[in-house]
Amino acid sequence: MLIRDHFRVGRFVLACGLAMALVSGAQAAGLGVSEDTFGTLSDGTEVDIYTLTNANRMEVTILTYGGIVQSIRVPDRNGKIDDVSLGFDDLQGYVERSPYFGALIGRFGNRIAGGTFTLDGETYQLPVNNGPNSLHGGTKGFDKRVWSASPIRTGDRVGVELTYFSPDGEMGYPGNLAVTVRYTLNNDNDLRIHYSAVTDAPTVVNLTNHVYFNLAGAGNGTILDQVAMLNADRITPVDDTLIPTGAFMSVAGTPFDFTQPKPIGQDIRADHQQLAYAEPEQGGYDHNYVLNNPGNLDALAARVTDPESGRTVEMYTTEPGVQFYTSNFLDGLQGQDGETYKHWGGFTLEAQHFPDSPNQPDFPSTVLRPGEKYTQTTIYSFRPK
Ligand code: GLA
Repeated sequence: MLIRDHFRVGRFVLACGLAMALVSGAQAAGLGVSEDTFGTLSDGTEVDIYTLTNANRMEVTILTYGGIVQSIRVPDRNGKIDDVSLGFDDLQGYVERSPYFGALIGRFGNRIAGGTFTLDGETYQLPVNNGPNSLHGGTKGFDKRVWSASPIRTGDRVGVELTYFSPDGEMGYPGNLAVTVRYTLNNDNDLRIHYSAVTDAPTVVNLTNHVYFNLAGAGNGTILDQVAMLNADRITPVDDTLIPTGAFMSVAGTPFDFTQPKPIGQDIRADHQQLAYAEPEQGGYDHNYVLNNPGNLDALAARVTDPESGRTVEMYTTEPGVQFYTSNFLDGLQGQDGETYKHWGGFTLEAQHFPDSPNQPDFPSTVLRPGEKYTQTTIYSFRPK
């Protein structure tokens, strides 16, 4: 056989192999996805749970209710596995008392001032559910909807694809919005969330995920000793209802500076107006950090490490901002495994466009028009350090 023919045969074999892998969903060793029933809503709708596993004994569970990340089990430096995301064992917990634990947030993550905005000359009124403002998509946002789901099996990832159709006028927002979210896990311990959405009329979109992390294990004390780095030189300071003033504030020389790693609790009680707005009595972070490398999925956006267990989460995102929130509203909430979630018992890293963008002309736009596609990719990586 001529060398050329060898190449041809080789290429043919390779092509067949690839095709078979795609058809049969051949997986890298150790990756798996399975589906089960989690519970039933009072109207009879069944809620399913998808379990993603990898070769490093990492396991992530996701619910069709709210697209909720229900658990993230990660080994520590000694191989001990714990769930690093706050949540509940049963559906009832999520329906009745969840402060957005692990949930997909939409149509608009974070706050819109007065629950109102104007787009193309039309003014829209949204449900007001947080003081005078609209928070996280209104009284029944995407976190309280049941999503359609199907498993994902590609060569090096497993996951679940969730879809939700938000009709025109739902929660006051214009336009029919079709949303797809793909959660996937690989053998590098990356939990990747890919979002996309299209509309048939001009609207605003700001999707995020609201996992509360405690790297020592959910319910295992506070996160004050966990060491955070946020790759952001500025925040968008807020008023006393947590709506951005429109200004940008340098973090240099303030308790908000996490450009160099420091324990989350180091300055949390400092005397600073912005900390007091987030938590008037004891202090807390609940602020949008303006990322230094917006739109760059290769740039590290945030890293938090628990010195005790050695567990680390790194965040990468295409979004321009991240809401860093230290569970200032938690205070003894009953969670999974009989655990009690304390004040400062978790932190969130909500990848997002800036809060109240529809009313803030100097912020990156959150407007989505027909013919355009909203996309976001955010990765929470638990690669051992
Ligand atoms: C976001 C907000 C917080 C709080 C939580 C949910 O992080 O910024 O103020 O509302 O969601 O409790």
